[in-house]
Amino acid sequence: MLNLHDIRKDFPILEREVYGRPLVYLDSGATAQKPQCVIEKINELHRTLNGNIHRGAHFLAEQMTEQYEAAREEVRRFIGARERAEVIFTAGATASLNTVAYSYCEMALQKGDNIVVSEMEHHSNIVPWQLMCERKGAELRVLRFDDGGALKIETLAELLDKRTRVVAITQASNTLGTRPELKPIIDAAHAVGAVVVVDGCQGVVHGGVNVAELDCDFYAFSGHKLYGPTGIGVLYGKRDLLEKMPPFLCGGDMVDRVSFERTTYAELPLKFEAGTANFIGATGLGEAIRYLQGLDLKAVEAHEEELLRYATERLQAIDGLRIYGTDPSKCAILSFTIEGTHPYDVGMILDKQGVAIRTGQHCAEPVMKHYGVKGMCRASFGLYNTREEIDQLEAALKRALRMLR
Ligand code: ALA
Repeated sequence: MLNLHDIRKDFPILEREVYGRPLVYLDSGATAQKPQCVIEKINELHRTLNGNIHRGAHFLAEQMTEQYEAAREEVRRFIGARERAEVIFTAGATASLNTVAYSYCEMALQKGDNIVVSEMEHHSNIVPWQLMCERKGAELRVLRFDDGGALKIETLAELLDKRTRVVAITQASNTLGTRPELKPIIDAAHAVGAVVVVDGCQGVVHGGVNVAELDCDFYAFSGHKLYGPTGIGVLYGKRDLLEKMPPFLCGGDMVDRVSFERTTYAELPLKFEAGTANFIGATGLGEAIRYLQGLDLKAVEAHEEELLRYATERLQAIDGLRIYGTDPSKCAILSFTIEGTHPYDVGMILDKQGVAIRTGQHCAEPVMKHYGVKGMCRASFGLYNTREEIDQLEAALKRALRMLR
């Protein structure tokens, strides 16, 4: 059992008020709140240990480097990577996905090849692939989902062929919450020689991952959705692929020797970490992972699933409310529209009652197109949310409807 009372105390922002009302934060899918230990870690490092990593011979630089590399090890263990060389720190999931798109496609994508993405991807797992296809004369193919939000896995075989180079797929849709069964997709992609890139932004938070068992080739996620700081993310890649791939961003720290005649590159993972890394952010992410591991993660998952179940039950009872995504695999993300209202209006009225949800297209315009809507409201739950907050959401929605209808 989770001690929610104590957990909520770990997150100082949850004590604040918004417009004179207690904050009900239901937008963890966009960014999760930070526990005190992460906030303190970042402050403490700025106060006591700020020194640029992998460069200086002085005390601060050495100690900071140690902390940075310890955070890498923390991430490695958390996602089940075989070695630290396979864990690259980036600015966020978008940077991770762009790194693979630019670097892998530079090496492997040719005119006439194709890349498969799913219809439920976040823009960050569509646009980089689309751009690479345009540049190289390759084709972007789309794996569709049905109206319940399940991928049409039976059509995958029609999309894959010997010219498929990449399959880019989410572990959990940020809009529908669907968690597609990845293993068959990965096996089918590997059977035609394609690599699989998994967007783990929501999935790593709701259920976690073991990348070695999953056998994906690349895995991307952001720190800030995992209760860590903003501006830090992770790219996992299999060593043999990362070694073959050309660097993406170039500059300091990613080189071995530099001359005007020839430059050689640093060993992994530094080859993909050009410039001054966000070493304080990475260490903050390591701290967030330590915090999570101090909790019973199975209980966290069960708690979030119960929140989803309860919220679905309460919201379904509201007249004219439609929920998008009903797949049984669904994680704690609840997108909806209400007949006769605009999502922005609903979001604004909720906000004035202290309830924070996301409104709009959720960076997933193809999902909106699928359902023929311009936008949706989305409540997404974190480990600190409570049933009472769902009651507050329901009450706030009913109030919004009284005003809007
Ligand atoms: N990608 C984030 C979300 O789903 C920002 O809200």
